[in-house]
Amino acid sequence: MQFEMDAFAERVRPDFPGIKTEVDGKGVVYLDNAATTLKPKAMVDAMNAYYLGISSNVHRGKSYSLELVSNTYEQARYKVASLLNCAGNEVVFLRNTTEAINLVAQGLCLKKEDRVLVFDDSHHSNFLPWVRNATTELITTKADGNLDLDQYFAALKKAPKVVAITHCSNVTGVYAPLDLLVNAAKEAGAIVLVDAAQSIPHRRVNLGQLDIDFLTFSAHKMLGPTGMGILYGKKEQLEKLEPVNLGGGVVDWVEANAYRMRKIPHRFEAGTPHIAGAYGLSAALDYLNRLDYENIQQHDRALGKLMLSLAQEREYVKVINTDSTADRGAVISLFIPGAPSLDDAARVISDSYGIVCRNGFLCAQPYVSQHAQGQVLRISAYIYNTEAEIRQFFNALDEIRDFMF
Ligand SMILES: Cc1ncc(COP(=O)(O)O)c(C=O)c1O
Repeated sequence: MQFEMDAFAERVRPDFPGIKTEVDGKGVVYLDNAATTLKPKAMVDAMNAYYLGISSNVHRGKSYSLELVSNTYEQARYKVASLLNCAGNEVVFLRNTTEAINLVAQGLCLKKEDRVLVFDDSHHSNFLPWVRNATTELITTKADGNLDLDQYFAALKKAPKVVAITHCSNVTGVYAPLDLLVNAAKEAGAIVLVDAAQSIPHRRVNLGQLDIDFLTFSAHKMLGPTGMGILYGKKEQLEKLEPVNLGGGVVDWVEANAYRMRKIPHRFEAGTPHIAGAYGLSAALDYLNRLDYENIQQHDRALGKLMLSLAQEREYVKVINTDSTADRGAVISLFIPGAPSLDDAARVISDSYGIVCRNGFLCAQPYVSQHAQGQVLRISAYIYNTEAEIRQFFNALDEIRDFMF
């Protein structure tokens, strides 16, 4: 049976108050979900329940309210563990994906001569921390936008210490062949980190079936709150990782000149954590689970296919990665040859048509510059977006074409 993508989106739309927002009396079409998604009311209600109740701290004492809040905080950790199929103590709560990758890049105590393989379509967050802490080798993408696997296999022969994979590109929406990349990296003896910031919102990754050492994503890209990031670390890897921040919450015992660290994962959560964020994350995960990841993935794929075909129907529009056989989600980056700055186009699309999209280099500047010779316009959809909204964006582009490009 064919997947009814609009019926799926229409079913969830009433749960998102943000969708009803109007600017100058006109409804807003939100197509910047790769940056951050809208939030369902249930998620905000869960955060409010914490703030409007006895909003105790966590893990510091024995009062009833503190235990209640601590239990809810820990339940969120177990929900993440169940999503990923890993143990609860392998889940660390941080601020975001960026902080998680910085923690790993620093905490592995790499030497400058250690080699780290990074991919040229990586977000700056999965690029710069490695550049600072080690010697990086860049695996490039070919002209069609896909990874150069021959180059990857050749680079693995040089015994890299770490391979930093991006599961789904925030520029193209194309998924990397995760099994193949991870298995080859593990055979080469490397530590594997996966940036799943763009993938986990749409697809599950089963850590029981993939030998990944670290994996990270951000709650705000999957209906959850900002300021809540997740780092999965394999138990033996987390036990070796050096914490970056010290202070309250990370130690069992302190003397004048010595301290004993708490067990994982707590030793990485220094200071008061984002407690309300854990409540929100928990509610966001419940929401996604109720929808079923199988449906979410089908909707994502269907909109991704539609975006590519609508872009390719227009001869004045170019796309980064045009491979129609690629495994892609609902993210696409377009450029218009001869129109290097798309600031004005993004502004007009926003102000005159109410469509929120993104322009610029998308925190992947070397990759975007190489493939687009300038900025791009990106649209990215999530569970509540419809076919009509994607068409609206392309119609707006056609209308502004004559006076803008
Ligand atoms: C692929 C990828 N990695 C990392 C990040 C950084 O996420 P955050 O800003 O939540 O740290 C993003 C954000 O857009 C991303 O798309």
